[in-house]
Amino acid sequence: MGEKKTLVFSQDWFEITRPTWEKLFLLGQPSRVLEVGSYEGASACFSIRQVASFRPLEIHCVDTWEGGIDHQEAGVDMVSVYERFQSNTANMIAGMPHPVQLTVHKGYSDIELAKLFAEGKSNYFDFIYIDGSHQAPDVLADAVLGFKLLKVGGIMGFDDYLWQEELPYGRDPLRTPKIAIDAFTNIYCRKIEFLDAPCVQVYFRKLAE
Ligand SMILES: C[S@@+](CC[C@H](N)C(=O)[O-])C[C@H]1O[C@@H](n2cnc3c(N)ncnc32)[C@H](O)[C@@H]1O
Repeated sequence: MGEKKTLVFSQDWFEITRPTWEKLFLLGQPSRVLEVGSYEGASACFSIRQVASFRPLEIHCVDTWEGGIDHQEAGVDMVSVYERFQSNTANMIAGMPHPVQLTVHKGYSDIELAKLFAEGKSNYFDFIYIDGSHQAPDVLADAVLGFKLLKVGGIMGFDDYLWQEELPYGRDPLRTPKIAIDAFTNIYCRKIEFLDAPCVQVYFRKLAE
């Protein structure tokens, strides 16, 4: 599509996710999308094009735009990353035939998700993607709060299920998403059904509050 020429991404992380989302968006037909972790807007731009080509979209993007531990260690210029997020999403929205209501929540995800809950957006979103902090306590908070915000019948997913750091003292499970995703999906097993996805990500449908 024409609008693609004006999008600028320094990372291609989302390309692994794209085929899974093509299937999940057909299955879920979302109109209200929430993502934790937006970076340059690759996943947000996918949602915008995939939904607003056919129907109006409400999308909420939560990010500190400070980067995770990995970005901070690599010295990534997060001011430029935020500028690219703004221009990429604006350019994508400008090319869409249907309206897009984009709300940017610049802050820590636990606080921003709690604010959405306090605003009354429980049982509200059709699709939620957790791709923010990789630290287990943060991922657990995103999972529990995100689940509250997800509609019954809605789809929620996590990136980086197998992400881990090379640390001088070896592997530290508390600094990975996996232990939090496992704990959450075990505790909520009666309220979710898993959906088919590559093993580097985890998706489920919410069956009950
Ligand atoms: C891997 S990137 C997101 C990539 C994006 N979903 C995509 O597909 O292109 C992770 C993002 O999470 C953000 N982040 C890390 N910890 C966070 C936290 N506790 N709250 C909110 N955002 C956080 C970082 O600033 C970074 O932009």
